[in-house]
Amino acid sequence: MRLDKRLAVLGTVLKAGFAERVWEGRQHSSLDRFLGEFDRALRTLAAPAQGIRKNPAQGLPEADMDAGTRQHIARLMRINHTGEICAQALYQGQFLTARIEDNRVALRGASSEEVDHLAWCESRIAELGGRTSFLNPLWYVGSLSLGVIAGLAGDRWNLAFLKETERQVEGHLASHLAMIPETDQRTRAIVEQMKTDEAGHAELAQKLGAAEFPFPIKWVMRVSSTLMTRSVYWV
Ligand SMILES: [Fe+2]
Ligand SMILES: [Fe+2]
Repeated sequence: MRLDKRLAVLGTVLKAGFAERVWEGRQHSSLDRFLGEFDRALRTLAAPAQGIRKNPAQGLPEADMDAGTRQHIARLMRINHTGEICAQALYQGQFLTARIEDNRVALRGASSEEVDHLAWCESRIAELGGRTSFLNPLWYVGSLSLGVIAGLAGDRWNLAFLKETERQVEGHLASHLAMIPETDQRTRAIVEQMKTDEAGHAELAQKLGAAEFPFPIKWVMRVSSTLMTRSVYWV
């Protein structure tokens, strides 16, 4: 590469790094946060996810499965992918409304693990020859709205929503593990790591002071999650 081109690339990288440090180091206004989250929303829905951690499937052999099984597993991973889209929206709702700055920072870490999940699901769906759901924007907006409503009720309820969601997702991933053949090590490795992470996220929400939802709210959440999984399996 020519020297002037190299210098231009270096300048862009330094500028991006500086902007990031300025962003991290300052107190954000509500408008800053809103614009930051809007940008995040567009990237979640429209761009391939960029995970940070190594994909747990890396180095594992591909299983010999018939077309029907591959399609079924791709659809299960599509459900998990939409679940991760919802997780992004939920964390964004939390980030926009949380009043305690420490909570925001702590949950940003968990939210970056959700980006890893999103990337791993996308890559496994592609390997299996499947596609992501057409309904993702719909579920994204729904989750974001619920996250914001929970956030407006106060940090304890915001965290309660997060904790209950993570618990339900963990249970839901366990049910997928029961359906994925033992031979499909690549899918299993991803789902197992996600399940471990979700349990950690529920614990984090608990540590940060999450309240406990009454049974009727948990039931409504379960019904909407069933609606999501049933629709996304096909669409
Ligand atoms: Fe996740
Ligand atoms: Fe999670």
